[in-house]
Amino acid sequence: MDLDKAIQGRRSIREYSERKVSLDNIAEVLDAARFAPAAGNIQNFYFVIVEDKKKRKQIAEACNQIWMEKAPVHIALCNSPGRLKVLYKKFGDHYSVQNCAIASQNIMLKAFSLNLGTCFVGSFNKNKIESLLKIPPKVKVEGIITLGFVKKQEEIPRKLELRRITYFEEFGKNLK
Ligand SMILES: Cc1cc2nc3c(=O)[nH]c(=O)nc-3n(C[C@H](O)[C@H](O)[C@H](O)COP(=O)(O)O)c2cc1C
Repeated sequence: MDLDKAIQGRRSIREYSERKVSLDNIAEVLDAARFAPAAGNIQNFYFVIVEDKKKRKQIAEACNQIWMEKAPVHIALCNSPGRLKVLYKKFGDHYSVQNCAIASQNIMLKAFSLNLGTCFVGSFNKNKIESLLKIPPKVKVEGIITLGFVKKQEEIPRKLELRRITYFEEFGKNLK
C-alpha cells in the first residue's frame, strides 16, 4: 500500500463488523511493531490478544467505552520497562512509553493496509485491566488497541495545518 494513503487514510474506528479476524492477520499486524525504532533497540512491549466476548465486555467497562465491546479483538499493549531502566536509568521509563507509542503506530498502519480498522484507547482503569489480564507487577498496560473489520468508516477529523504547528529555528518563530 502507498505510504501516504496509509498515513492519511487510517482512522480511529469505533464500529466493527462481527467478522472474525484470522490469527494470521493478527500476527501480521503485531509483527509490524518489532520493526519500529526503539530506544536501545529494546522491544520492551508485550501484547495480550483478547477475543473472549465476556473479557472484551469487561475491558470495555474498565475503559468506560461500551463501543469497544463489539470490536472482535482487543490488544492490550503492555510495557515492560525493566531493561530500559537498567540501561538508561531515569530516562528508561520515558523511553519505554515512547517505544510503545511508536510501535502502536506501526500496528495501526499495518492493520489499515490489511483493510482492518483500529482505535488506540488510552483512557482506562489501569488496576481493573491489569488484574483482568493478570499483568505481572513490573509490567504496565499503556493502551488497548481495538482491531476488526470496519462497519462504519469515520470521517477525517479536523487536523491542524502544518504551518500552525511548524516553526523555524526557535519555538514561535514563523518563516518570514
Ligand atoms: C494516546 C491516545 C489515546 C486515545 N484514547 C482514546 C480513547 O480512550 N477512546 C477513543 O475512542 N479514542 C482514543 N484515541 C483516538 C483519538 O481520539 C483519535 O486518534 C483522534 O480523534 C484522531 O482521529 P484519527 O485517529 O481518526 O485521526 C486515542 C488516541 C491516542 C493517540
